[in-house]
Amino acid sequence: MTPIANDAIIKALRAAAMDEHAAIIQYLRHAYMMGESELACEIEGVARDEMRHFWILSRWIVKLGGEPLTDRGFTDFGGATPPEWMERNVQAEDRAIAMYRELIGRANDPDLRADIAHVLADEERHRGQFVDFGVEAQAELAAATESTGAAPEAPIAVVDKEALDWGVQHEYAALLQYLMHSFLLHTQPNCEISDQLELQAINEMQHLGWLGEELAGHGIELPWTPHPVEVPSDAASMLESDIRLEQGTSAMYGQFLTQMTDPKLKGVVEDAHGQELYHESLFNRLLKRAPQKAAPEPGKTWTIGSLKQKETK
Ligand SMILES: [Fe+2]
Ligand SMILES: [Fe+2]
Ligand SMILES: [Fe+2]
Ligand SMILES: [Fe+2]
Repeated sequence: MTPIANDAIIKALRAAAMDEHAAIIQYLRHAYMMGESELACEIEGVARDEMRHFWILSRWIVKLGGEPLTDRGFTDFGGATPPEWMERNVQAEDRAIAMYRELIGRANDPDLRADIAHVLADEERHRGQFVDFGVEAQAELAAATESTGAAPEAPIAVVDKEALDWGVQHEYAALLQYLMHSFLLHTQPNCEISDQLELQAINEMQHLGWLGEELAGHGIELPWTPHPVEVPSDAASMLESDIRLEQGTSAMYGQFLTQMTDPKLKGVVEDAHGQELYHESLFNRLLKRAPQKAAPEPGKTWTIGSLKQKETK
């Protein structure tokens, strides 16, 4: 592959990664707003596929010498009802299908082409799923209009809303941070740290769901802006940053728990808080086994780039 073609592929993969990130958020938002239902679970399943795609693309960006990113592409926040949301999801899949069909023709590397073909097949399946979900959502909407409807949720206290808002922004950041660290460390000789970070990223996505469903259940839009994400260059620095994140979160959740009023919402934050303490202890254990940080040469700045140079395809 010529350097120019390589640059063009990296650029296209970065745009695709931003769109995968957008798809994760668009679908999770819909699932949370639909509350606990079979359909919401299926939509969350599609969001998990998009998370896998984000991971695959980000790995390739790093392998080819590019900078991975946590920026989000166009996210469709429009539509007022589940059938309208599903229509917008069909459109998102159509955009992805068109993009991957174009990208597959530009990729010279057979392994990259195979990975893009795998992602493209998922998007084609998702499109069909969202068409079916739209029909189901339409039927559910019609049935709900005929029934008397469920009792609306009691208003949420300001302090409870503040805790959930903060939690959503934190969990979103933790999910991104652990995913980034996971794929950056994936080619290191010992994959345990990478695998654990990926597992805990999925756990943070569950927390996002617990908190997000409560906000959405009260008719409140989630704050879809993550807290800042740290991406240091080596395993030990990443784990140190992850430990700091967990410590800060435990302290914040602990503080919110002394002020929150609704027992159900408190229970949700308590559950997340307990798991954050586990994450902190797990990351501390992993840090003890992580490769020692290399002493930086005078004047040398450690960046993602320094890690990339050590990678092989
Ligand atoms: Fe995707
Ligand atoms: Fe998709
Ligand atoms: Fe969490
Ligand atoms: Fe955590």
